[in-house]
Amino acid sequence: MKKTIKDIDVGGKACIVRCDFNVPLDGDGNITDDTRIAAALPTIEYLISEGAKVVLCSHLGRPKGEPKPEFSLAPVAKELSAKLGKEVWFKSVPEVIDSEVKAKAASLADGEVMLLENTRYRKEEDAKDLAVQEPFAKELASLADIFVNDAFGTAHRHHASTAGIADYLPAVSGFLIEKEVRYLGEALTDPKRPYVAILGGAKVSDKITVIENLLEKVDTLLIGGGMAYTFLKAKGFEIGTSILDSEHVGLAGELIKKADDKGVALLLPVDIKAAEAFENDSPTGVYPADQIPADRMGLDIGPDTISLFAEKIASAGTVFWNGPMGVFEMANFALGTKAVAEALAGSGAVTVIGGGDSAAAVEKFGLADRMTHVSTGGGASMEFIEGKALPGIAVLQDK
Ligand code: 3PG
Repeated sequence: MKKTIKDIDVGGKACIVRCDFNVPLDGDGNITDDTRIAAALPTIEYLISEGAKVVLCSHLGRPKGEPKPEFSLAPVAKELSAKLGKEVWFKSVPEVIDSEVKAKAASLADGEVMLLENTRYRKEEDAKDLAVQEPFAKELASLADIFVNDAFGTAHRHHASTAGIADYLPAVSGFLIEKEVRYLGEALTDPKRPYVAILGGAKVSDKITVIENLLEKVDTLLIGGGMAYTFLKAKGFEIGTSILDSEHVGLAGELIKKADDKGVALLLPVDIKAAEAFENDSPTGVYPADQIPADRMGLDIGPDTISLFAEKIASAGTVFWNGPMGVFEMANFALGTKAVAEALAGSGAVTVIGGGDSAAAVEKFGLADRMTHVSTGGGASMEFIEGKALPGIAVLQDK
């Protein structure tokens, strides 16, 4: 268990808080999904209420070590000010920390909040060589007395602002990291049974270690989305022009066998909604999973699969879901993903959504509030579920 901001005295102390404000922006710099900002508020509000001086920092996008205006955190500062109901001081400087930023940090009043510019404006931030990160980590540390990491979405990166900084300051977690670790950890180690995992998304290769890890834990594994076609192929079915991870057909076959050996029910789609082309308005049909026509591509699971998956979800104690069931961004291929999201919402199970596209899907269908936990981390939640140590968490003090 890691120490949190509740385990130490933060009153009157300067806290540098690493958040994950890597939010999507439209072409006009408007934030199109503020989930990650909202998720950071409990920590920031607590620190304000305790009279801490709050220095926030984050990356946004991948500016590759150069100051680029389209990656500025200015829109985040504005949104944070509105959400907190108080000014968040912000100055966009290419070097992230200049003399004015330093002076501001040194003169913050208790309960005052400032935000630094995008930490990835500095090439040291995510330098592969950790020694190169050091001077920037030190600079960041010089602004505060305590390091608070609350950037779960970036906890799988060893960067100056996520991990290196902990070499120079007492380091504790914020409430978001605490919550993510609790829910993802429970789903991984002590789930209410039956434990059902649902995996989708395009490539088998991205999820191999996750699947292998989950086969040790789950009672049922439901596979949909783009990766299902590689598994169907491994069973010897023709899959038409559906997406195929051809290098991993053999491995998919091995995973099917491994599931069988372990007594895990690995369920693949039994029917598929397939189209002529990767277009919303392309002519479609629903076909048994072993009879996809040669000129059609599967873009969603079919109605019988929806019923099968929904039945498994309805009787689950815990459900972990990562990866959409079809091309849910297109209205005609969104039904499978929507139905799975609805089945989770109505299940009464502990429901944990592993970030990325599935988090975007439950948000899109207005069901995020009905899940036990929607992770703010895409890559981070997957690495956590794989059982890897996340550097941004490993560096925090133990209780
Ligand atoms: C994310 O969106 O997954 C995190 O903010 C990490 O971003 P990165 O993949 O660019 O490191």
